Amino acid sequence: MATDNTHTIAVLPGDGIGPEIMDAALHVLGAVSKKHGMTLKYLHADVGGAAYDRHGTALPEETLKACEAADAILLGAVGGPKWDSLPDDQKVERTSLLRLRKHFDLFANFRPAVVYPQLASASPLKPSIVGSGFDILIVRELSSDAYFGKRTLGDEEASDMMTYRKHEAERVAKVAFEAARKRKKKVTCVDKANVLASSILFRRYVTEVSRQYPDITLEFMYVDNASMQLIKNPHNFDVIVTTNMFGDILSDEAAMLTGSIGLLASASLNGKSFGMYEPAHGSAPRMAGKGIANPVAQIMSAAMMFTYSFSRPDIHASIERAVMAALGECRTKDVMEPGKREVSTQEMGKAIARHV
Ligand code: NAD
Ligand code: IPM
Ligand code: MN
Repeated sequence: MATDNTHTIAVLPGDGIGPEIMDAALHVLGAVSKKHGMTLKYLHADVGGAAYDRHGTALPEETLKACEAADAILLGAVGGPKWDSLPDDQKVERTSLLRLRKHFDLFANFRPAVVYPQLASASPLKPSIVGSGFDILIVRELSSDAYFGKRTLGDEEASDMMTYRKHEAERVAKVAFEAARKRKKKVTCVDKANVLASSILFRRYVTEVSRQYPDITLEFMYVDNASMQLIKNPHNFDVIVTTNMFGDILSDEAAMLTGSIGLLASASLNGKSFGMYEPAHGSAPRMAGKGIANPVAQIMSAAMMFTYSFSRPDIHASIERAVMAALGECRTKDVMEPGKREVSTQEMGKAIARHV
């Protein structure tokens, strides 16, 4: 259990680049615990394909127990070509990641896409669009939609039901409006309410919840337009609240606008203080074992844990400052630019740890 200065973290590195970026994040956590006199206890556990190979299941009972015993989960990534041909009911993404999200009712996924001035030139957008940088928070609904609806997979026909319920739209809307209150006070609801019934309902209850937040401006945008506006005018966005599938897609797009998906952290929250902290990217199988993956998304995911699970936003901010300082000196390959030193995943982790 958590006390002010002791926290237990379930550490689930998973597959592909997962173990490498997790190792870098643990370096940073080591520096944090030293600096703040904090005891961080780790419960290491297998997940994903690695767990499937060792235990015959992508989410072994011991892993679930470790997560239940912890104050927060820090996860790397799961999946890869080795497990892609498993039968539908054993697919590692669904049987581990989605099961964890469901089990802990992690319905609100925060994915902050921030272009920092230091990294402005890493963005593929024109400098005239990036300006002095932008800061978008995608609040992705994470517990429903086609991911968890009724599904059928036959030889001739397959279907995934996109279902939304009133309370699911309401609770994620509330989280998004609360987040906007601490930011620029604007929420854009992204959906496909011109076509999809699930989006009509989602939009209806986001609108209803907005009446409790007269200080927040609410805008609506269809997802196809949103994918374009993110590129054309990212400054137009503050908080985006959206359904599970659209949030999945738009967050990869937003990540790339910041320079690399290796920068996009995420927190999957249950509305209380429990959360799973995982980069938005996957296991990047082709990068695995080469020491070239960017660990910043993993490290910033760990940083978010201090705000949302441990009530220490000051530590979150100090890790973010350390990341910025380290990026001023060195870079992994994906965001490399002239004048910086190119470093490995591990060296990047160590550089950030030094700046903590
Ligand atoms: P991916 O995110 O793994 O990779 C997409 C691209 O981004 C690749 O070019 C990759 O090299 C690059 N990339 C990803 N992380 C990076 C990092 N830290 N630094 C630098 N570059 C990085 O997506 P994919 O290729 O579609 O999926 C690979 C596997 O990961 C699949 O099995 C997929 O199901 C799984 N996946 C898992 C998660 C998760 O565990 N949360 C998320 C997405 C995908
Ligand atoms: C993500 C991933 C997952 C998702 C997959 C691996 C199940 O893409 O976390 O963005 O679609 O939610
Ligand atoms: Mn995704």
